[in-house]
Parts: sequence; C-alpha cells; structure tokens
Amino acid sequence: MNNFLQHNPTKLYFGKGQIEQITNEIGKRAKVLVIYGGGSIKRNGVYDDVIRQLNAVDAEIYELSGVDPNPRLATVRKGVEICKQEGIDFLLAVGGGSVIDCTKAIAAGAEYEGDAWDLITQQAPIEKALPIGTVLTLAATGSEMNAVSVITNWEAKDKLGWGSPLVYPTFSILDPTYTFSVPENQTVYGIVDSMSHALEHYFHRTPNTPMIDGFIESLLRTAIETGPKLIENPQSYEYRETMMYLSTTAFNGTLMNGTDGGDWATHRIEHAISAVYDIPHGGGLAILFPNWLEHVLEDDPSRVKQLAVNVLNVDPTGKEDKETAREGAQALRDFWNSLGAPQTLRDYDIDDRDFDAIIEKTFIKPGVGTYKEMNKESVRDILKRSL
Ligand code: NZQ
Ligand code: ZN
Repeated sequence: MNNFLQHNPTKLYFGKGQIEQITNEIGKRAKVLVIYGGGSIKRNGVYDDVIRQLNAVDAEIYELSGVDPNPRLATVRKGVEICKQEGIDFLLAVGGGSVIDCTKAIAAGAEYEGDAWDLITQQAPIEKALPIGTVLTLAATGSEMNAVSVITNWEAKDKLGWGSPLVYPTFSILDPTYTFSVPENQTVYGIVDSMSHALEHYFHRTPNTPMIDGFIESLLRTAIETGPKLIENPQSYEYRETMMYLSTTAFNGTLMNGTDGGDWATHRIEHAISAVYDIPHGGGLAILFPNWLEHVLEDDPSRVKQLAVNVLNVDPTGKEDKETAREGAQALRDFWNSLGAPQTLRDYDIDDRDFDAIIEKTFIKPGVGTYKEMNKESVRDILKRSL
C-alpha cells in the first residue's frame, strides 16, 4: 500500500426523513441560494420539503433553476452573479450530480474576482469558496461526498473535471425515498456510473491492497445483485437505499485508500464524447468500459481475469487467462445491456466522423490512464471497438 490520508469532511445524513437536519446545519436567517435542475424536485415534492425546512430557520431564499444535465458554464456564471449581487451565505444543491457539480463551481466562482472558467481550467488557484450543502435526488456520481465537479463549456465544446478540497459539501442529505421518481433510464445510468467508479479504482498498480480490492469487488457484486431488482421494483426502499449508499461509497475517497487512485481513462474518454455529443455520462460509460477492458487485456489479462472470476462469475477452469478475461468483459457488457444500457456509439448516432475531435479533447489535460497510459492510437482503438 501507499501512504495515505483519509479525511472526508462531508457529513452524511442518510435515511428517510433526514431532510429535517437542514435546520441544524443552516444558520438562522442565512441568505441561501437553492440550486436545482429542470423541475423534477417540484413534481416529486422534494422542493416543498426543502423550502419548509428553510422557512423554519427564517432563511432568506434565492433560487437558481434550470441546471442542465452535463451542467454548463453559462449557468455557473448566472449563479456566481446572483451570489455576488445578493451577498449569498450558503448554497443548497437539490438534485443529481449535475446540480451539485454546478453548485461547486458557483461556490468557487463567487469568491473569485475573474471568470469561473479560470478556476475550472486551473489558470487561477481556488483560494476560497462559499459553503455548500446538498440534498441528493439521484444515486450516481458520488458528487455529494467528494471534491470533484465536471463542467461543460458548451461554446468551446469542452467538458472538464476539476476539484478542490474547498468544495466538499459540508453536509449531504441522502433520503432514498427522494430517488423513487428517478426514471428507469437515469436509474440505469446511475448503476453504470457507480460501477464504473468502482472499476476505475480497481485498475490500479499498487501492490498489497487486499482490503480495498475486496471492498471494490463486494461493491460491484452488490450492484450486480441489486441492479436488476431495482429496475423491476423502482419504488423499493430497500433497493434504492442500497444503490444510494453504494454510489456515494464508490466515489468518496474510500476506494482509493492506499492505492495510486486508479485508472480513470474511460472517464476521460467519456467526458470528451459528452463534450461533443452531450450524451448521458452513464450511457457513454456503458459503451466504453467493456471495450477498455478488452483493449487492456491484450497486453496483460491478469487484473481483468481477477474481475471476471471474482465479480462476474466466469469459470476459469481449463481456460487461458485471456479467454477468461475476455469472457469477463463480455459479461459486464451483457449485464449492463440486460438493464437497458446502450452498447455501441451508434446507439447515440455517433460514427467515426468526430473521432479526431474526441481524441483531441481526451488529451485536453496530459496523462490519460495510470493502469495503462493511453496514447492517441489506444484511445482510437477503444473508440473503434465501441462503434
Ligand atoms: O433536472 P431535473 O428535472 O432535476 O431532472 C434530472 C435530470 O434530467 C433527473 N432527476 C434527478 N433526480 C431525479 C430526476 N428525475 C426524477 N426524479 C428524481 N429524483 O435526472 C436527470 C439527470 O440528472 P443529472 O444530475 O445530470 O445526473 P447524474 O447525477 O448522473 O449527473 C451527471 C453529471 O455528473 C458528472 C457527469 O459527467 C455529468 O455531467 N459527473 C460528476 C462526478 C463528480 N462530481 O464526482 C463524477 C462522475 O464521474 C461524472 O462525471
Ligand atoms: Zn462517472
């Protein structure tokens, strides 16, 4: 194992009715900017629950709605303006990863003189940020308990991941009943995204990590067991709570304790595709990850084989390692497909026309992949396999 520091400052309030904790977390008469998406929280009652709690502490409430999936820089700028004009004290994100990511960028942008894009592109350091709380409504990204955010500059067609310890939410409320209304396709993307975060962590190069490897395998097996039941029973508290805890744990730092942090090339390629085509993140990952596995097992099948046997129930008896590993990659593809996830780029009407642009955007920051460092040709190979 590598030396490591475990420190995640986000307080997690997990379970039914935890929304009431807002009154303990947000000071009396604070100026609170409530940030949300396209209106799902108004239809499922979460908005009313939040406002009731804010009224209980006499908060001065401001609102920013309309945060898009794959959140845009233009919305970040709008939020920053409100914060600066109104002297906002606290940001409350109510939604999925997109709303939370947008809120993180507003938090940093509000405490910076220049344009928020400077911070996202790391042209300027993040020295201060407004405090954030979140009410999670979609189990997927882990943004509710990490310091990461992903923002799209739609004009430049760039989608960039960035992060700062200053944008960890101070608290997050995870009430599984708030995810009952998540539609089937988004539920599937959430399962794929959470599993992909576990997979990215799994492909590291640090020796002697039996605990973490076992955690990851257990998390993946749980997702495989729970996912199909949840799709069949979307109103099941039991399955929703399992997926909610699972998705947060898959990307809150726990799974990188003592390792080099994992590979993350598949995420970089997916973000590049989303930047050009604005497809759902989980949909892109479902297409790419099995192909990334097939690409890396050609050089070294050992880790993919371990995944195949320990997680995907492939029987290795009498088989070459590569064969077992290939069966594992196919089993993952089949599992996601059985849930209804897309399998090829053509499912989103994407062909090889924009491969050069996607490859270019994948390398927008240097260093893609640690388990296997990618070059342009390896990314092209994965894209071709994904057609
Ligand atoms: O906008 P509303 O009306 O709220 O509808 C949303 C949206 O259309 C809907 N939704 C959310 N909760 C709902 C609901 N509909 C009904 N009932 C509910 N309870 O779901 C749609 C998708 O929401 P979004 O927030 O975009 O999904 P997700 O949580 O998957 O977030 C995706 C974004 O997060 C980034 C992705 O790249 C993408 O931009 N990521 C962020 C990460 C992070 N910060 O750590 C890591 C990830 O790898 C990822 O890259
Ligand atoms: Zn992801």
